Amino acid sequence: MQTVQLDSHSQRNLRRGKKNLNKEHGQILSHWYQSSGRDLPWRLLWTKHQNPYHVWLSEIMLQQTVIKAVIPAYDRFLKTFPSILELAKAQEEQVRLACRGLGYYRRFSFLHKAAKLLVNEYQDPKAKGGIRWPTTYADWMALPGIGEYTAAAISSICFDQPKAVVDGNVERVLCRLLNLKIPPNLPVLKKEFKVITNQMVPQESPGDFNQGIMELGQTVCTVKSPSCQECPIKPACLSCKTKTQHLAPAPKIKKEFTNINVRLAIPVAKGKIGLIQRSKTAKFLKETWGFPTYIGAEKGQFKLDQSQSKVDWKSGTSVGKIKHTITHHKIEAEIFETKARYPSIKWFNHADLEEKLLASLDQKAWKQFTKNKNS
Ligand code: ADE
Repeated sequence: MQTVQLDSHSQRNLRRGKKNLNKEHGQILSHWYQSSGRDLPWRLLWTKHQNPYHVWLSEIMLQQTVIKAVIPAYDRFLKTFPSILELAKAQEEQVRLACRGLGYYRRFSFLHKAAKLLVNEYQDPKAKGGIRWPTTYADWMALPGIGEYTAAAISSICFDQPKAVVDGNVERVLCRLLNLKIPPNLPVLKKEFKVITNQMVPQESPGDFNQGIMELGQTVCTVKSPSCQECPIKPACLSCKTKTQHLAPAPKIKKEFTNINVRLAIPVAKGKIGLIQRSKTAKFLKETWGFPTYIGAEKGQFKLDQSQSKVDWKSGTSVGKIKHTITHHKIEAEIFETKARYPSIKWFNHADLEEKLLASLDQKAWKQFTKNKNS
C-alpha cells in the first residue's frame, strides 16, 4: 500500500479524537455491550466456563471469516476437540478435517502448534481448562500464530488486560466518530487508532469495551446505513453532528491482486482418483491433499508446484475452467483429466474424496470434473 499524507481536516480531527475520546466513552460502550451484545456461542461459553480455549478458538476463526459462517464451524470444531488437551493430542489431518470449509488453514496449524506447546509446558489439572494460561498481552504475542489483534482480544476478554483491539469495524467506528472522510484502512491511521482506543479502554472489563466497539461496528455503525439513533456514543460523533455519516469513511483501499494461471490434473485409473500431498514449499495450500497443480510460468509453460516431477503439464483432456482467490492471488484454473502417473500418488474411491479434499480450490475442481462427466 502506498504511503499517504493525511489532509489537514483529518489531522485536526485526529487531534480532537486524541484530546476528547476517553475512558468515559469506553465505559459507555462497555455497558452498552453488557446490555445489548448478542449472545454468540463463544460469549455464552465464556460466561459459563471461563475457559480461554473457547475465546481463543473463536478469535482465530473470526480472523478471516464472517460470524454467520463461523457459528456452525465453531460448534463442529468443539465437538471434535472439546478442550485444548484433545486438540493438543490430535493428528494434523484431524485438525484439517475439523476446520474444513473455513479456508486459510495456516491459522489452525498455528493454533494446533500453540496448543501442543501450552499442554507440554503448562498443563495443570487444577487450573481452569487444564492449563496455566498465559495472561498478559506479551505472553499471548509470544505464541505461534497470535498477532497484535488476537493477543489484545484474548488477554482483554479472558484476563482483563486493558489492551484495545483495532479491526475493520473499529476503524470504521473511529472514522465516523472523527468524521474522517478517508479510507479506514490507510496504514497511517493504524498507529493513531491504537493510541485513541487505548486511551478509551477502561480498566474495568476491558474485554467488554473491545467486544462492544466491534459489536457497534457490526450492528449499529454499519458500512451502508448506520442506525445513529441506537448509538450509545452518538453525542461524541462528529460525522453524526454534521450529517456526513455517508462520507466518513471513504471506501476502503482495495487489495491488489495478482492473476495466476494454473492447471489442475485429475489423475484417473480404474475408477479411482489420484491425489498427492502438496509439499511444505508449495506455492499454494501447503501440505494439503489435492490434485497435482501446475503454476503458469514463463513462455506459456507450466511448472508442477509441489515436486520435481517430470510429468508433462500438457497431458490430459480439459474438463473446463474454474476461478478461485487465495489471499492476493486471483487464480484461473483449467482442469484436466489425465492418465499420467505422479510420484507418491495415492488412489481414492470417489466416496472418500470429500473427506480428503479440504481446500476449496480442489473441491471446486472436483465439482467441475463431476459436472462435466454428468453433462
Ligand atoms: N470479531 C472478532 N472477534 C470478535 C468478538 N469477540 N466480538 C465481536 N466481533 C468480533
